[in-house]
Amino acid sequence: MTNLQEIASEIESYVINDAKQAEDFRIKFIGSKGLIKELYGELKNVPADQKREFGQQVNQLKNLAEEKYNASKENVSDSKSQIDRFDLTRPGFDESIGSRHPLSIVRSEIIEIFKKIGYSVSEGPEIEDDWHNFSALNFPPEHPARDMQDTFFIDKGEQEIALRTHTSSVQVRVMENSTPPIRTISPGRVYRNEAISARAHCFFHQVEGLYIDKGVSFADLKQTLLYFAKELFGEKAQIRLRPSYFPFTEPSAEVDVSCTICNSKGCNVCKYSGWLEILGCGMVDPNVLESCGIDSNEYSGFAFGMGIERITQLKYKVNDLRMYSENDLRFLRQFTSNI
Ligand code: PHE
Repeated sequence: MTNLQEIASEIESYVINDAKQAEDFRIKFIGSKGLIKELYGELKNVPADQKREFGQQVNQLKNLAEEKYNASKENVSDSKSQIDRFDLTRPGFDESIGSRHPLSIVRSEIIEIFKKIGYSVSEGPEIEDDWHNFSALNFPPEHPARDMQDTFFIDKGEQEIALRTHTSSVQVRVMENSTPPIRTISPGRVYRNEAISARAHCFFHQVEGLYIDKGVSFADLKQTLLYFAKELFGEKAQIRLRPSYFPFTEPSAEVDVSCTICNSKGCNVCKYSGWLEILGCGMVDPNVLESCGIDSNEYSGFAFGMGIERITQLKYKVNDLRMYSENDLRFLRQFTSNI
């Protein structure tokens, strides 16, 4: 009679390292023509008083073989059935690699332009205290200038906490924590409590710039902005400055770039003026330098700030701000870049 003990040790010591060995094992022991099936067939020849014991032992063998086979399947991933099902020589499926968001593209472009003339990139928190968003920037408490930027307040306690309304707050942090010369730009998201329309949104993105050193003049500011405009919009771009007001700069100006769409001849984008407004700027107010621990008798500097949406709108002729955050793939797929 078959030696069941031998079969058990054969099952135990059987080596299964790959799908083929697993399949051989299955055929040999548990397949429909396998050893175990055969043993059940032998049951009828076993004397009646031994039937019960023999049956139990064959059941145990069956369990042993099945457990071993199932465990081996987990280790051997390319099981035969899979090899049959897949043609491994077929080329792979195309991965769609997507595209960068237009605001990210323009943000990177702006950063690259300023990096070339020695500006570092600094970032800061989007939730700010009153000091960094307003007070250090020469907005006196209760001053109407604070209404220039409608603010989302989070906590109106002793120290007001709000979503930053501009990234000038980052520049305050940089000035507090370093000594001039300082040359940095701060890109980031900012928030204002405005009704959402084609021309306004409750959040947008800015890049603000700051340059502080001994003897920095308004001429340096103007030349830096002209360089920027030419790099961004092409060699033919011109700029003009119009007097303006910001609490943190004195004097202050709004900067226009010559309309790149009609070459300054006049079109509906530049409203037939030949100029497009792109940013605000000015010489850092001495009060701001002092608030941030910088001696205003020794140092001077300039600052500027622009909205990335605005620049993107001009570069790509996107005329509705809401498109940037609607996540419509038909819009987003139109942008490609290598930065
Ligand atoms: N912080 C200003 C704003 O958000 C922009 C600005 C920055 C203006 C620096 C002048 C100088 O409106």
